[in-house]
Amino acid sequence: MTATQPLSLTSPLMATYSRFPVTLVKGKGSYVWDDQGVQYLDFTSGIATCNLGHVPDAVKQKVEEQLQNLWHCSNLYHIPNQAQLAALLTANSCGDQVFFCNSGAEANEAAIKLARRYANKVKNSGTSEVVTFTQSFHGRTLATLTATGQEKIQHGFAPLMPGFSYLPFNDLDALGQLAERKPAAVLLELVQGEGGVIPADQEWVSKLAQVCKENDILLMVDEIQTGMGRTGTLFAYEQYGIEPDVISMAKGLGSGFPIGAIIANEKAAQGFEPGSHGSTFGGNPLATAAGVATVTYLLENNVLDHVNEVSQYLDEQLQSLKEKFSIIKDIRGKGLLKGLAFESGAPEIVQKAISHQLLILTAGPNVVRILPPLPVTKAEIDEFIIALEKSIQSMEKGE
Ligand SMILES: Cc1ncc(COP(=O)(O)O)c(C=O)c1O
Repeated sequence: MTATQPLSLTSPLMATYSRFPVTLVKGKGSYVWDDQGVQYLDFTSGIATCNLGHVPDAVKQKVEEQLQNLWHCSNLYHIPNQAQLAALLTANSCGDQVFFCNSGAEANEAAIKLARRYANKVKNSGTSEVVTFTQSFHGRTLATLTATGQEKIQHGFAPLMPGFSYLPFNDLDALGQLAERKPAAVLLELVQGEGGVIPADQEWVSKLAQVCKENDILLMVDEIQTGMGRTGTLFAYEQYGIEPDVISMAKGLGSGFPIGAIIANEKAAQGFEPGSHGSTFGGNPLATAAGVATVTYLLENNVLDHVNEVSQYLDEQLQSLKEKFSIIKDIRGKGLLKGLAFESGAPEIVQKAISHQLLILTAGPNVVRILPPLPVTKAEIDEFIIALEKSIQSMEKGE
């Protein structure tokens, strides 16, 4: 720091986040604790990241074992955990090959690069355009914020990346433009998360997949928020009866350990060859240890069945709450990715929830986003509903 620092500079951290006045120091299962020892019910799961709850034993054990042996060795060498995780992901998806990176934005960057290279080098098509959808969110790097169909995310970052265009989400008529333009790829979320918890319509997705197939357009799904069991299947695309060419993922893959990935089918994977893409940390021994333990636990412990059972219970409880409060306009989402659309006041409710020892999120201006850990119990859902009800009442009374 220098003597010339602006007077407004009160923190050594850059002001990229507006933070809640809570300092979290510990977590276990569905709960976190602050530095004063106050316990909170965490229905954010680190924004759909701690899908198995905080500090899950199975993942902790595997990472601790790996910590004793090798932390990092570069992708110039073979990494057993990486190969094992890739095998798990391809065996449980429609994809054939995996590239590992460290975050969601990087996963989408890899998907976009793969699409461009596939178009330029394999298809020789002359267009490397990627089409995305309004209200989408795909990340904060220059390419992924350009892919994001929200002006507020792009504001001030001009010039944006060339080669992107946008179509309205869930709009059947607009799909005609796709057939005319024949871009290299489309990239979409099957439930738009940051954009307001908006599920894609089945008919629209089916038609979109058909147009992609007929016109040799790569179908790329961003499962960064919806993947890893969040919606009740390992990936949300399974519920739509489609087989995407590329799946991007991150968040829940490492239970909180930073990791991202794309899974591509054989056709799309031809776009990359040695030297065309890479990442120093991508898929390193520690991150992929967390990934192997996370995916194994998800698949071998009936977590998906549990999500389907408790999400139905959560739906029923939210429905009862909607009947009590006329300001609740809609309940949306899939599995344990839920949005409660309010007439107004969603940010205030999220603020009030903190004093009722509940952590929840917004998604867009009027939606409260609910992301419990996947092993959440019905008793924890009851506790959540009580705290949410109190938070709505506090907001209405202006307390
Ligand atoms: C659908 C989706 N895509 C991409 C991203 C970006 O992921 P990351 O923050 O790990 O870069 C997010 C993050 O919220 C997301 O929800």
